[in-house]
Amino acid sequence: MPATAPPAHLPSLGGHERAEIGRQLQETLVELVDLSLVGKQLHWTVVGPLFRPLHLYLDELVDSWRELSDTVAERAVAVGVFPDGQASTVSEAAEHGPLAAAPIADHDVVAELVRRVAEVSERTRTRIDRLGELDAGAQDVLIEVLRALEEQQWMLRSQLTPGKGA
Ligand SMILES: [Fe+2]
Repeated sequence: MPATAPPAHLPSLGGHERAEIGRQLQETLVELVDLSLVGKQLHWTVVGPLFRPLHLYLDELVDSWRELSDTVAERAVAVGVFPDGQASTVSEAAEHGPLAAAPIADHDVVAELVRRVAEVSERTRTRIDRLGELDAGAQDVLIEVLRALEEQQWMLRSQLTPGKGA
């Protein structure tokens, strides 16, 4: 192999670039894991007339967030950064405190979800801009995340009662 080959066959990125790409992916990873845990909690605690559709929809969302988190984490490893999606790391980074282990009304569940998904979407959008200067591969992964989150955001906000949005 030529002497210019990167060490250990990693993609040819500078150390600073690699670390920054890893940071953007890591921050997205913990937010997606957090969403997946919150989603499962709400799957269990939702009550009200919309219990059944929300209970089922929440499992679809959780599956989506888990799959996206896997894609994000694996992009990090592919560029040479080891991700951390463990409970303690997610808990440390979490912006919101824990939900009460108690019943939560269906309309409150939708409001909580749309707020959280919108927050993660916005941060993902900012990271996409940042990654545009660093790595098209990681940027592409976050574009996939953004597309999924914004579609979910649309479907969730469409369930809100007009004039009573979150
Ligand atoms: Fe279940």
